[in-house]
Amino acid sequence: MPVDFETDDLTAALEAAGFDRTRPVVVVWLGVTLYLTADAVEQTVARVAGLTTGRTDLVLDYSEPRRGGGEAARRRAARADRAAAIGEPWLTHFTPPDLAALLERNGFEEAEDLGSSGWGGRYLGLPPGTPDRPSGHLVHATRHRTGASAL
Ligand SMILES: C[S@@+](CC[C@H](N)C(=O)[O-])C[C@H]1O[C@@H](n2cnc3c(N)ncnc32)[C@H](O)[C@@H]1O
Repeated sequence: MPVDFETDDLTAALEAAGFDRTRPVVVVWLGVTLYLTADAVEQTVARVAGLTTGRTDLVLDYSEPRRGGGEAARRRAARADRAAAIGEPWLTHFTPPDLAALLERNGFEEAEDLGSSGWGGRYLGLPPGTPDRPSGHLVHATRHRTGASAL
């Protein structure tokens, strides 16, 4: 069932699809936050936080705001322009502390936030010492519910 995170109710859509809100859940949400408004990211994380009476594991990625100059910044700006030109503008970036705060206010503990050298080393075999680029971060967060009911 498709969901527009800007306008739709994720919880209702999952319930309509038969989602069991008493079971632990793993949500993998990759490649999306960059394309949403900050409000939609916040709302979606809040929805995910309230999905289940069990444990929630959330994996998401985010992009840091552009900083610095030089060739890398120029290439990144060109990629952003190309994305906007095909109707997929990059709307929302987070600093690592801002993303951690978003998770925390929704009851998540941030288990891990890997910058590009971290996930590049682990998953792409990049050598240790590869400089971090201020681009994609990969995050794993957990939420342990203690209440009796979800949302
Ligand atoms: C770069 S693709 C990533 C696709 C896939 N998740 C992945 O990791 O390969 C960006 C995705 O964001 C989704 N997206 C963008 N805005 C959205 C919105 N408002 N609601 C739901 N999905 C959205 C698009 O449908 C698209 O699938």
